Amino acid sequence: MSGIPHDHYEPKAAWEKGLAKRLPVVGLMYDTLMIPTPKNLNWMWIWGIVLTFCLALQIITGIVLAMHYTPHVDLAFGSIEHIMRNVNGGAMLRYLHMNGASLFFVAVYAHIFRGLYYGSYKAPREITWIIGMLIYLLMMGTAFMGYVLPWGQMSFWGATVITGLFGAIPFIGEALQTWLLGGPAVDNATLNRFFSLHYLLPFVIAGLVILHIWAFHTTGNNNPTGVDVRRTSKEDAEKDTLPFWPYFVIKDLFALALILVVFFAVVGFMPNYLGHPDNYIEANALATPAHIVPEWYFLPFYAILRAFDGDVWVVIAASFLTGGIIDAKFFGVVAMFGAIVVMALVPWLDTSSVRSGRYRPMFKWWFWIFVVNFVVLTWVGAMPAEGIYPYIALIGSTYWFAYFLVILPLLGVLEKPDAQPDTIEEDFAATVAGDDAGSAPSAQPAE
Ligand code: HEM
Repeated sequence: MSGIPHDHYEPKAAWEKGLAKRLPVVGLMYDTLMIPTPKNLNWMWIWGIVLTFCLALQIITGIVLAMHYTPHVDLAFGSIEHIMRNVNGGAMLRYLHMNGASLFFVAVYAHIFRGLYYGSYKAPREITWIIGMLIYLLMMGTAFMGYVLPWGQMSFWGATVITGLFGAIPFIGEALQTWLLGGPAVDNATLNRFFSLHYLLPFVIAGLVILHIWAFHTTGNNNPTGVDVRRTSKEDAEKDTLPFWPYFVIKDLFALALILVVFFAVVGFMPNYLGHPDNYIEANALATPAHIVPEWYFLPFYAILRAFDGDVWVVIAASFLTGGIIDAKFFGVVAMFGAIVVMALVPWLDTSSVRSGRYRPMFKWWFWIFVVNFVVLTWVGAMPAEGIYPYIALIGSTYWFAYFLVILPLLGVLEKPDAQPDTIEEDFAATVAGDDAGSAPSAQPAE
């Protein structure tokens, strides 16, 4: 599968040869598991496994929850209480699923930021990146619809606010919103279709994950240096890589185990920490909560959505130029989706010929400001849209767009990159030597 030269599966026994001729599934599994992997991968390359674990956890716990859940406006809230109180292990299942969604997003953000820092999106890995972005969008859609299912106050009002965004689209908005909801307001038809799609989409995500893995197995993994594995000969490739099994499997499982210690502590001791207490009040179309706040993983985009109110000059200009067709609400919606679109286009916006941020002295600064900005947007997204907060949201949103549309294109031209190692082997040797120098004084000199 991979373009890196390596040993392939050779069927030995007669039955293996027979199977290989008819369905080469063992060969496929062997090549996938033994794929040559850059030997200098650091701890930021563990998130793919964590994500795979999360997807499996969500599907398994979700299927069992669905056995006891009822997608009807009169029964949904009660069926969740039934799961929590009467079903054996029900509270545990629900808390695993609820917090599993949060772990999924922690992992996906770490995975995306890893890609942004080490330039993993650059040629030839653009398709891996685009498939990743599709997965991310589907994850957001799935999480949003899942949050509606318990039919609490935040479920109902969150769904009302977010589906209302579609109503802001000029001309077709209202018809589109009614079509999405299955009626004039969030109601039984909405709950039913959200349940159906919430069950379906994780399997679509699973299909995309297979394509995602296929794509980066075709190009080979990126690595912290961004320097390619040598493909000149099998011997050269073997100096830069190690087989995925057992080396990276053990490393990834070790990291996963550590992360799960924290995860189970949250599930066991503070399962509602990330949730909103209002969602333990049954949905009531006649009582709007004081603050409607989405789940934490949507907050940066919620902040961007709300940043562009009617006082911002670009909104005033857009409204003036389009004779009022573009209003503040529609502008916010375009900005929110636009924020994800510009991130998806980063393979073509970043003009630097150097892949890894490690060798880009100016880029590093802008990248870390981008990370801090993301945290600030998350924080401000949870604040009420009054006082100083809208200004902070506006500055943060502007930086988001400037990073992708101005800073990255310009840096490629302005920046003078540092020297890169010639090979992965060289980088690996330097790291190992550095580690040895820093360990016990009695360490023997390397042979
Ligand atoms: C269910 C969600 C996802 C799963 C299970 C998944 C899985 C993986 C795995 C196993 C890897 C191998 C290296 C590693 O572990 O980091 C990987 C690499 C990669 N992923 Fe994802 N991923 C997911 C979502 C995403 C998203 C949302 C993006 C961002 C657009 C993305 C972008 C990438 C890129 C660019 C690489 C290549 C990096 C390399 O070659 O080392 N992935 N992914």
